[in-house]
Amino acid sequence: MTNTINAIITGIGGYVPEDIVTNEDISKIVDTSDEWIISRVGIKERRILKGELGLSYMGTKAVEQLFEKTKTNPEDVEAVICATTTPDYFFPTAASMIAYNTGCKNALTFDSQAACTGFLYALETGANYIRSGRYSKIVVLGGDKMTSITDYTDRTTCPLFGDGCGAVLMEATHEELGIMDTLLRTDGTGLSHLFMKGGGSAYPSTHETVDKRMHYVYQDGQYVFKHAVTYMADASIEIVKRNHLTKDDIDWIVPHQANLRIIEAVAKRLDVKEKVMINIQKYGNTSAGTIPLCLWEYEGKLKKGDTLILTAFGAGFTWGAIYLKWAYDGKKA
Ligand code: UT7
Repeated sequence: MTNTINAIITGIGGYVPEDIVTNEDISKIVDTSDEWIISRVGIKERRILKGELGLSYMGTKAVEQLFEKTKTNPEDVEAVICATTTPDYFFPTAASMIAYNTGCKNALTFDSQAACTGFLYALETGANYIRSGRYSKIVVLGGDKMTSITDYTDRTTCPLFGDGCGAVLMEATHEELGIMDTLLRTDGTGLSHLFMKGGGSAYPSTHETVDKRMHYVYQDGQYVFKHAVTYMADASIEIVKRNHLTKDDIDWIVPHQANLRIIEAVAKRLDVKEKVMINIQKYGNTSAGTIPLCLWEYEGKLKKGDTLILTAFGAGFTWGAIYLKWAYDGKKA
């Protein structure tokens, strides 16, 4: 027990769409193969949200599940923070839509954008609301409808992405649990290597931006790969060291799921072979969704007091690591 207020995760919900796109399906659209995608990226299939549905649809489903599992009264929720790069609209926010859909009538709401690192940024923001002592129950989401900004004529990016969203409930405790330490960083030189050029205030949507295919993810794959490995590993090692942890103290590494080779390289640098959460084979890169969806799927294996290192890298460049002590045993009903 401590006098300080710690922010813990007390439940998790998730949602992935039913429709599956296999590597076989992708290889019918662009010049690629199941073998290339599995060996270079580690993805077998990904989910796609069809129809005129946006990120808020998946976020709403995730929060509904979260409330059911944690028996939360939505009117008790004081803040809803949604990490996403693909909100339904420029405005209003996805968070405001999700709060409305799930009955969070008394919550402040906002979206947080740090691309694939978004969930870590939102989690740290949420933790600070709790630590302030003025908020005791908040929802933090991470998710993206990446297929809405994926160019299905570009074989270097279209196999990579999928759709999905996760949501956690954060509450206060005086136990030594929850978000113990956070390291978040930014390097703006990354801009031109991973971005979507059109549709923002620099290049508002016009016939020309559409004709030039500027409304899709552009990625310089190799450049991003190298930086992802270095920055995720460096951030994880730094947070482990400054909290005087050893590799034996780590129960789980929870890495952003962009490429299995990146995940393996980061795990190797941390000298942790097992106990790495991986679900990229099923969902691909869901951007801000990857880390909460890992926690959602592995919830049943987690125990109170487990030491987790969350780490991510994304456009910006943004990256970071969070040292989290898990607050409950097993899966909530
Ligand atoms: O989530 C945010 C951060 N994003 C990331 O962390 C992603 C980082 N980057 C990557 O994961 C990898 O760089 C990619 C998966 C995007 C690409 O893998 P790579 O091993 O770096 O491939 P490459 O770009 O070096 O391309 C190797 C070869 C090239 O052919 P040549 O020039 O050697 O003949 C590409 O044209 O593979 C070719 N290629 C493909 N071949 C079949 C590229 N994409 C494909 C494809 N199918 N889909």
